[in-house]
Amino acid sequence: MTAEKTDPWVLAYRGFEPEQEGLREALTTLGNGRFATRGAAPEAVADDVHYPGTYLAGGYNRLTTELEGEVIENEDLVNLPNWLALTFRVAKGEWFDLAGVELQAYEQRLDLRSGVLERSLRFTDPDGRETKLEERRLVSMSRPDIAALETVITPLNWAGDVEIRSGLDGRVTNDGVPRYRRLASRHLEVLEADEPDDETVRLRVAMNQSRLRVVELARTRIDPGGDQPAARRRGIDNDGFIAQVLGAEASEGRPLRIEKVVALTTSRDRAMSECGLEARKALDRAGDFASLLAEHRRAWEHLWRRFDVDYEHSANGEGERTGQIVHLYLFHLLQTTSPHTMDMDVGVPSRGWHGEAYRGHVFWDELFVFPLLNLRLPEITRSLLMYRYRRLDEARANAARAGYRGAMYPWQSGSDGREESQEIHLNPRSKRWIPDNSNLQRHVNSAIAFNVYHYTQVAHDHDFLSFYGAEMLLEIARFWASIATYNPDLDRYEILGVMGPDEYHDAYPDADAPGLNNNAYTNVMAAWVLHRALEVLDVLPEVRRRELRETLELDDEELDEWRTISRRLRVPFHDDGIISQFEGYEELEELDWEGLAERFGDIQRLDRVLEADDDTPNRYKASKQADVLMLFFLFSAEELERLFDQLGYDFDPETIPKNIAYYLDRTSHGSTLSRVAHSWVLARSDRERSWDLFGDALRSDVDDIQGGTTPEGIHLGAMAGTVDMLTRGYTGLETRDEVLWFNPCLPDELARLHQHIRYRGHALEVTVTHDTLTVCALGGNQPPIKIALGERSFELSAGSEVEIPLTDGGC
Ligand code: BGC
Repeated sequence: MTAEKTDPWVLAYRGFEPEQEGLREALTTLGNGRFATRGAAPEAVADDVHYPGTYLAGGYNRLTTELEGEVIENEDLVNLPNWLALTFRVAKGEWFDLAGVELQAYEQRLDLRSGVLERSLRFTDPDGRETKLEERRLVSMSRPDIAALETVITPLNWAGDVEIRSGLDGRVTNDGVPRYRRLASRHLEVLEADEPDDETVRLRVAMNQSRLRVVELARTRIDPGGDQPAARRRGIDNDGFIAQVLGAEASEGRPLRIEKVVALTTSRDRAMSECGLEARKALDRAGDFASLLAEHRRAWEHLWRRFDVDYEHSANGEGERTGQIVHLYLFHLLQTTSPHTMDMDVGVPSRGWHGEAYRGHVFWDELFVFPLLNLRLPEITRSLLMYRYRRLDEARANAARAGYRGAMYPWQSGSDGREESQEIHLNPRSKRWIPDNSNLQRHVNSAIAFNVYHYTQVAHDHDFLSFYGAEMLLEIARFWASIATYNPDLDRYEILGVMGPDEYHDAYPDADAPGLNNNAYTNVMAAWVLHRALEVLDVLPEVRRRELRETLELDDEELDEWRTISRRLRVPFHDDGIISQFEGYEELEELDWEGLAERFGDIQRLDRVLEADDDTPNRYKASKQADVLMLFFLFSAEELERLFDQLGYDFDPETIPKNIAYYLDRTSHGSTLSRVAHSWVLARSDRERSWDLFGDALRSDVDDIQGGTTPEGIHLGAMAGTVDMLTRGYTGLETRDEVLWFNPCLPDELARLHQHIRYRGHALEVTVTHDTLTVCALGGNQPPIKIALGERSFELSAGSEVEIPLTDGGC
C-alpha cells in the first residue's frame, strides 16, 4: 500500500472520531487576529464531545467564585455567542445531529493557503434518507468583523420539505477547560435578541463585569441567486438563542445551498458610532459567500507572500508533513496576531484565541513569537509591544506594592495589566487545590525589555524606542536595580525570592516561604537589561534623553548604581563550569526518572505526578523546561561570553555543551516551550538530537503530545518557536549591534532553506544551502545594511546580492 501523499497546504481529517473532536476543533480554529472561532460543527452545542467557542482578542471579564471557604477571582477570555449555530431537519423529523445518523463518509479539510475550513459528509438518517452535506466557512481576513458559513444539502435518495434552523446562541458559558469547572463561568448577559428584518437575527450581549458589549448579526439566505422560491421563515427566541427556521423544498439530487453571513462588532472597536449600527453597516457591505471568499483569499495570499518558508528536504517522506505543520503553525500565528490586531489593544495570548486554557492570558511567550513577526511584519510586534506600554503604569504600581521601584510587569496579564496569575490551582491528578507561586517569575520583565530591544534592532524604529520602548526599558532596569540586594561577604548583588522559567521549582525543600535565590537566568538577564538600558540612554536624541531623565527622575547616581549592579550580579556555578539553575541547586537530590516513569507512565507533568504522590519536584534536580539553557537560546556564544566577562566571571564557551547535556538530562519538557529551546541550543553541538527535538516540538500541538492540552487552546509560543527554529535557528540569524548576523548550520535533513525577511526597511531574500549563504536585497532606497558571518562582514545595498561560501556547511 502506498502512503497517501500529504498536501503541505491542507490539514485533513477522515472519519468522525468523538474523542479527537476537541483537538480538531482547536487545530481547525479560524480567526483573523481580531476574533476566532473553533472548528466545531455548526449543529453542535457544548457537550462531552463538542465545544463551540468564539473569542474576541482581548475580550476579558472578571468573576469571583467562593470555593472551599476562599474567594477566588479570575479574569477570563470570554466565550462569545456561537454564530455558527445551523442545523436542518426533513419532514419535521429530528434536527440533524451527528450522533443520530449513520455516517458513510466524513471529511474535514483545512485549507491553510486560503483560510477555509471544509467539512463534507454523507449519512443515512433513521428513516433511510441518504444525504450529502458540504460546508465551507471562513473568518474573514479582509473584513475583520465578518465571518461566513456556506452549507450545501443534497438529498441522494429523497425529496421533500426541509427546514433550516440558523441562529446565534448566547446561552454559552466558559466551560471549555475541565479543571476550571468549579469556577464561575457565566460571563454574558443577553441584552437584546431580535429579528431586525426578514433574513436577519441579532443578538446583543454584555459581559457582566467588564461591560464589554458585543453585537452579532446573522443573515441567512437559501439558494441566493438561484431559483428557489423565497424561504418561509419563522423566528425562535429561546432565552438567548435567537434563530430563524427557513422552510424549503428539496429535490432528489439537487443541491440546496444556504449562506450565513455574520457581523461581529463590539464596544471596543475603533472608528465606530454604536456597535449595533456598525454591525448593520458591516453586514450590508459584506457581499455573498463567493465574493467574501475571493477577498479573504487575497488577504491570505498577501500574508503568505511574507511568511512562507520554502525548503528542500531530503527524500525521506517526512518533508511534506514538516511543511504541512510549518504552514499550520504559521497559519495559527497569523490568525492570532494579524494586521487586524494592529489596531487593537491586545497582547500575545499564550494559547491563541483558540480556547479557554490559561484564560487567554499573556505570559512571556511572546519572546518565542516576536522574532518571526519582527522579520516579516514588524508593525504587528510594534502594536503588541504597545499593549505592554499602555500597562506601564500598572507595572509601576505593581512594583511599588511589592516594595520596589521601576516597573514590575505581571507574570500573567489580561485586560488592564494587573497580576492575573491564580493563587491556587487544581492538580487534576490529586484533585487538590495547591498554592500557585508562579507569579514570582519576575524574568517576564527581561523578556519585555529583550523584545523592545530586538524589535528596534530589526525594524530600526527609533521613534518607537524614543517615545515608548526606552521608557519601558529604563523602568524595567530600575526595577532590577531595586530588587537586587548587596551581599558584602561576596561583594555581589543578589536577586532573592524569585522563580526562574522552570515552574517545578518554586521554593527550597522544607522552606516556609516560596522563592529561590539567584536564579542564573534571571540574574544574567537582569544584567543584560541594565547594560542595554544604559546603552539606549546614550543613543537617544538629546532632547528625548533629557525629557525622560527628568520625567523619571533618573540622576547620575542612580545610573552609576545600575552600572555597578550590571557588573556585579551573582551567578552561581557548580561541578566545574555548570551554571547552577539557582543557588543551592547542586544540593538537591537526583530524581529516579526511570523508576518514576515505570510507576506512573507519562511524567512530563512531573509536578502533578509528584504532588499526587505527596512529594514535590522542589526536592529534585528536575526541571519542567529550559531555564539555564534559555541563556544559550537567547544569546549567541559570543554575546554570552561578553556578558559573563562584564559580570567578572570566567565563562568558557567550551562548557556550553556540558551545560546543555547536564540540564537536558534533568528536564521533563512539561512545557511545550522546552523542546524548542533545547532543539535550538543543540543545533550546533548535536545536530541529530537537535533535529529529533525539533521534530518533537513540531508535533506538540498537531499530535497533542501533552495528552489533552491542545483541545483547550494551541500553544502559540511552541508553534512560532518551531518555525523560528527552522528559519532563524538553523541559519544562525541574529540581530544585534546594528548588524544582521548569520551563522548557518543546516541539519542533514534540509538541503536548502529559502525565506523572505524584512530588515530595517529592506526586503531580503535569504537562501541557505550546505555550501552557500545568499542574501539578496530587493530594490528600494533604504541606506545599506551590514551583514556578517563570523569575522566576515559585508555591506549590502538595495538591489544587490552577496553570496558567501560556507565551509563545513557553516557548522
Ligand atoms: C510554562 C510557561 C508558559 C506558560 C504559558 C507554562 O506551562 O511553564 O513558561 O509561559 O505555560 O504558555
